[in-house]
Amino acid sequence: MSGNITLTMIKPDAVKNNYIGAILAKINEAGFKIKAMKYTKLSVEQAREFYAVHKDRPFYNDLVEFMTSGPIVAAILEKENAVEDFRKLIGATNPADAEEGTIRKLYAESMQNNAVHGSDSDENANIEANFHFSKTERF
Ligand code: CMP
Repeated sequence: MSGNITLTMIKPDAVKNNYIGAILAKINEAGFKIKAMKYTKLSVEQAREFYAVHKDRPFYNDLVEFMTSGPIVAAILEKENAVEDFRKLIGATNPADAEEGTIRKLYAESMQNNAVHGSDSDENANIEANFHFSKTERF
């Protein structure tokens, strides 16, 4: 099934603003199936590991602080061409640049507090899915 999954997190801003339901509805309406899901809160260690690829970027420490500031929803989503199609559904990283109707345009607060994460490649989708979920948590 390589190429058919992506990993999303509904981030602390969207959870705090009560957008979990609206975002999940958009995800289902766009044809994604939920393979795994959990409501959880990242530890600082987990957030640092998840975003390790950004560790030398100036926004890294703020990002870790934000991602550990409250609960998140993590999910594995399945669909043909999942990574690319999900990135279209969520829109640009900066909600100011996101297209109308995209999840970030509708629900994000800022470049950092941008409502949702979506994997950027098939390789990272698998790494990120394995980060959040064991085999017995996937259906
Ligand atoms: P995400 O798609 O989860 O990947 C990295 C995250 O870092 C991004 O969403 C934003 O939440 C955050 N971020 C903050 N500033 C920037 C920036 N200048 N460029 C990219 N990502 C940023």
